[in-house]
Amino acid sequence: MPADVFTAPLKRPEHVGEDWLEPKQTEYDSQDDAIWNDLFKRQMDILPGRAATAFLEGCEKLDLGKGGVPEFGQLSEQLGSMTGWSVVPVPMLIPDHVFFWHLANRRFPAGNFIRTRETFDYIQEPDVFHDVFGHVPMLTDPVFADYMQEYGRAGWRAMEHNRLKALGALYWYTVEFGLVEEEAGLRAYGAGILSGPTEAVYAVEAESPNRIMLNVDRVMRTDYVISDLQPTYFVIESFEDLYRQTVERDFEKLYRALGPSFTYANTAVIDIDNLVNRGSLEYTLRGGRGSGARPV
Ligand SMILES: [Fe+2]
Repeated sequence: MPADVFTAPLKRPEHVGEDWLEPKQTEYDSQDDAIWNDLFKRQMDILPGRAATAFLEGCEKLDLGKGGVPEFGQLSEQLGSMTGWSVVPVPMLIPDHVFFWHLANRRFPAGNFIRTRETFDYIQEPDVFHDVFGHVPMLTDPVFADYMQEYGRAGWRAMEHNRLKALGALYWYTVEFGLVEEEAGLRAYGAGILSGPTEAVYAVEAESPNRIMLNVDRVMRTDYVISDLQPTYFVIESFEDLYRQTVERDFEKLYRALGPSFTYANTAVIDIDNLVNRGSLEYTLRGGRGSGARPV
């Protein structure tokens, strides 16, 4: 890590090393396992017909519904034989460069803690349910698995050009909140959508949000909200399309062309957009989550 590369100044807990890995996964009690089971059931009642086929197949291949919080070691063995990825336990937040380094080596850093009954519906920090249920099934898809590794590699270049914010927007609009066009219609593959009940319905079916075909240059210039439903989603044709658009794009050149801040608001529709649909933005304009607006 060169000394002149900026990275988030997080304080490393004493019990973790330079790789920020926890010595082992938390031991969960029966209440924690019950929370996992209830969250799993709630999502699985909603997701068929709304989640990407690759995601649903991934859940089955990894048997995520067998009961209780999955064991990372076992997940890693299964994933390893499918796409060479593993799941490793980390404290809640880790610095960007460490996160990128793990991804670039096909290790997915997952939070250890699980939410409580009191925070069942909405959590500020990603917990083990978001990280494992939301992200890990997609890592069984070979093309998406390659994309995640390339994203980790791209992180280093983004830091050198001081354009982490732009690369963060790409992660946000794909890995967390991406939609994919399937024969049967739009489906969600982003973990932020798939790990919550409200957004899983809203992202795919509501009239409020704009849905726009993904264009990497455009997405990396677009602001995003972190504590509410998205006013805009970006749609890919396929995971091959996502891989091509990002990995074959010369990011060095792109970073040099990007300004330090975002150009487009998260509600904007611009001339070059290939629109799937223009949203009514009703939910956002009524004030979103804080106002009690219905996610329609
Ligand atoms: Fe996430």
